[in-house]
Amino acid sequence: MIRQENCKIVSNRQIAKDIFELVLEGELSAEMKQAGQFVHVKVADGFDPLLRRPISIASINEGSYTIIYRRQGKGTSLLAGKTKGTTVDVLGPLGNGFPVDEAKQGQTAILVGGGVGVPPMYELAKQLARGGVKVVTIIGFQSAQDVFYEKELAEFGEVYVATVDGSYGRKGFVTNVLDVLCLKADFLFACGPTPMLRALENRNDARRTYLSLEERMGCGIGACFACVCHTKDDPHGFSYKKVCSDGPVFQAGEVVI
Ligand code: FES
Repeated sequence: MIRQENCKIVSNRQIAKDIFELVLEGELSAEMKQAGQFVHVKVADGFDPLLRRPISIASINEGSYTIIYRRQGKGTSLLAGKTKGTTVDVLGPLGNGFPVDEAKQGQTAILVGGGVGVPPMYELAKQLARGGVKVVTIIGFQSAQDVFYEKELAEFGEVYVATVDGSYGRKGFVTNVLDVLCLKADFLFACGPTPMLRALENRNDARRTYLSLEERMGCGIGACFACVCHTKDDPHGFSYKKVCSDGPVFQAGEVVI
């Protein structure tokens, strides 16, 4: 069930350049089930719905949950300034996450995260590992100062880091790492910038690929059409999906990205 709640800040700390980890307490955490779902966070007071920002859920715990966001612009700068003990207005959980149940014990899943697409991979890795699925995670960033959650993800399996400028991990993109590893997995789950998702869409690293789209959103609940994308079988017609309520996770080939 979707709820709106004033969640109490347990911690709000910077973990990389302009990247903040926000731990919130609230009954809303009990509604969170699927890795890959997101919340719509009100970053400032007022009635304008654009004051909300979609932020993916990084970790679900009992009574609390963690979200990770990038400080860019006024709204998220205000959020970064909020302190422990104060509250944040949160709407969620929203959207459909990754189909964790499709992966069976003993199977292998490659998880790929780019930039602020990395956070949902943490909860996903946790749930898959709990179900006996072998997890290999590849995370990509611009530079060493942008890297986060390498150690945390290593709790659940091998982790490879790529940076575009080569200042940390392997130089290049997540796809360069995939080229070197030459894995044949049962599943590939990814979240990150659109060019990264496009590059992953047509590869054959896994039998099934699921991509989580990062889309500009308005309402977050399927009412405003700000987030529509066309379906692949009707790329110029009237067939579309809403990223916020039909997604954000889609199987590769389902929508035009
Ligand atoms: Fe309003 Fe998706 S954000 S319909």
